[in-house]
Amino acid sequence: MIVTTAQLYKVAYGKFAVGAYNINNAEQTMGLFRGCIESQAPFIIQISKGARKYTDKRMLEAIIRTAEVIFPEAIFAVHLDHGDEETCYDCIGSGFYSSVMIDASHDPFEKNVEITRRVVDRAHAKGISVEAELGMLGGVEEDIAVDEGNACLTDPVEAVEFIKQSGCDALAAAIGTSHGAYKFKGQQSLHFDVIEGIRDKIAAAGLPPVPIVMHGSSSVPKEEVARINAAGGTLDPSACGVNEEEYLPAARLGVTKVNIDTDGRLVWTRVHREFFRDKPGEFDFRPPGKIFQDEYANFIARKNKKLGSAGTLPEIRKSLGI
Ligand code: G3H
Ligand code: 13P
Ligand code: ZN
Repeated sequence: MIVTTAQLYKVAYGKFAVGAYNINNAEQTMGLFRGCIESQAPFIIQISKGARKYTDKRMLEAIIRTAEVIFPEAIFAVHLDHGDEETCYDCIGSGFYSSVMIDASHDPFEKNVEITRRVVDRAHAKGISVEAELGMLGGVEEDIAVDEGNACLTDPVEAVEFIKQSGCDALAAAIGTSHGAYKFKGQQSLHFDVIEGIRDKIAAAGLPPVPIVMHGSSSVPKEEVARINAAGGTLDPSACGVNEEEYLPAARLGVTKVNIDTDGRLVWTRVHREFFRDKPGEFDFRPPGKIFQDEYANFIARKNKKLGSAGTLPEIRKSLGI
């Protein structure tokens, strides 16, 4: 059942994080639904501009609507990931999306506010909520030096001003992560001080709590990277992601949506590399596709446990009155 992102946030805020998983095809979708049913977790399906182009937005919608019929127990929201203004309007008008993300974080503060405000007005008129980004996530990836990295993190005082002026419903904040497989060098962790600062400044301004969204949340398991490389991959073995044990402490401070794409791509790469390494004469794509669906479902169920969303479907149903 497709619900609004706001309905999921309402139950999760301050208690657990809802996994937001990027989807590009039918195999991922099947694994995602199976993993979430198995772990009894609500979830958010994220569709990027790239996914809408790769699979065709109509195909993706058809796949997801069919999965909804195959898995009637599932409770989930559909979200546009990293949208520009034009794509946001297309999704708002489609009647399919529960929420959109407008990513104008690379623009100066005033322009970011201006663009986000326009999207918020159009989205709210249709009952759709908006995630907006403040801070420079990508820069954190490139600038490993702590001082430069800090310069990219979201400023809690600015965050409150941004929320007030833009009217956004959820805030994608730069809290030390970055997209892809190479996030950290050595022992680094999330910037809990920034998360706490945003939460406290929002409260001090007399605003209702605003869910914080963590982008770049993949954990990039060492074992997965090693298996990919043992099967012919050449990933940098220093690849490193977010410590999964930090998801829940972050969730308790207001990180309510946790975006995961890279870890799923690593599962796909490991399954297919190992399959064709071990069966070099094979050319039917369905056997590895089947293994991938099983492995992706296991991965999702495990991840939901780390996020604290596993086992919360009864609570979600109660809150929805169903
Ligand atoms: O943050 C971006 C997501 O990982 C989606 O990636 O744009 O390659 O589909 P994509
Ligand atoms: P990862 O690259 O860490 O999986 O992050 C995905 C993401 O933030 C999608 O918006
Ligand atoms: Zn992202």
